Amino acid sequence: MIKITCENINKTFYSELNTNLYQELKQNEIPIASSCGGEGVCKKCIVFLNETEGLPPLTELEIRAKLNQGERLACQLHLNCSLTISTTYW
Ligand code: FES
Repeated sequence: MIKITCENINKTFYSELNTNLYQELKQNEIPIASSCGGEGVCKKCIVFLNETEGLPPLTELEIRAKLNQGERLACQLHLNCSLTISTTYW
């Protein structure tokens, strides 16, 4: 099981390996911004990660989004390790 800790709102949940972070946040009723419904084009689902080592590489859509260090698009990230995340609105 993979542990996801949402900083600032004191929420933690557990997910299966290779599940999609955006879908897991929605399923766990944690607000995550989006206007594209998880298609990887709106850039509203940016999450900030304390640690990025060991994560899957950036997808083509994330590269095009020109993310800053430590940022990922939740809708493009398939979980392979435990994470602590935050957003600008939590
Ligand atoms: S939900 Fe639109 S880019 Fe991720």
